Amino acid sequence: MRIAGRLAASVLEMIGEHIRPGVTTEELNRRCHDYIVDDIDCVPAPLNYSNMPGQPPFPKSICTSVNHVVCHGIPSDRKRLRNGDMLNIDVTVIKDGWHGDTSKMYFVGKPGVLAERLVRVTQECLYKGIEAVRPGAHLGDIGAVIQRHAEAHRFSVVREFCGHGIGRTFHDAPQVLHYGRPGSGEVLVQGMTFTIEPMINAGRRDVRLLPDAWTVVTKDHKLSAQWEHTIVVTSTGSEVLTRRAEESTLH
Ligand code: MF3
Ligand code: CO
Ligand code: CO
Repeated sequence: MRIAGRLAASVLEMIGEHIRPGVTTEELNRRCHDYIVDDIDCVPAPLNYSNMPGQPPFPKSICTSVNHVVCHGIPSDRKRLRNGDMLNIDVTVIKDGWHGDTSKMYFVGKPGVLAERLVRVTQECLYKGIEAVRPGAHLGDIGAVIQRHAEAHRFSVVREFCGHGIGRTFHDAPQVLHYGRPGSGEVLVQGMTFTIEPMINAGRRDVRLLPDAWTVVTKDHKLSAQWEHTIVVTSTGSEVLTRRAEESTLH
């Protein structure tokens, strides 16, 4: 899991310099795909992934979610990034059967003040969620701190998607909700591995699924941000398996 996590993080580190006005999300997908397969010898978990019966398989190797897209945006050669856009890139790699799942927000050129604030507060939500992780804590403690921080800034928490157990399986039990009550839910035990991946909206929390059966957007078309890490519960707290070099403050 440590190796898979570090390799997933390296994809997000690699792609940063390629995000600029004029690039298409399909170009970003192709760069990530080639890097994952050729340079780090992993399998891109999203490619042909399907979760629910009847859902068409996801057709690309990463998710690219721009502006009001909440999650699971499909890279496209018709989606060209523009100055002022913000986007999430979500990477999941499989190394020797083990999954590493992580996402971060990027700005294209210069962001607006609301985008900058939403992205910062959402990252703080992730970090506060991680801080709540230790043996004996409850899953609800994670959701509670995330919800509290988002709503203190008058943002809203998406309810339809959550973090998840992860290991040899991409999406495993438990569900890691990004809202809830302290002391509720399963007790955390050393060795558990799961993701925390809050989706926070600038407007209302409601989302809508596009006819492509994957892309999730905000109903009010206001901005949405997301950050994700894969973590393991340690004897004293947590270890962030998908930590990037720029995150020197995380342990
Ligand atoms: N990486 C996403 C997550 O954090 C799941 C993407 S599923 C896909 O759970 F099929 F859209 F790639
Ligand atoms: Co995930
Ligand atoms: Co992910």
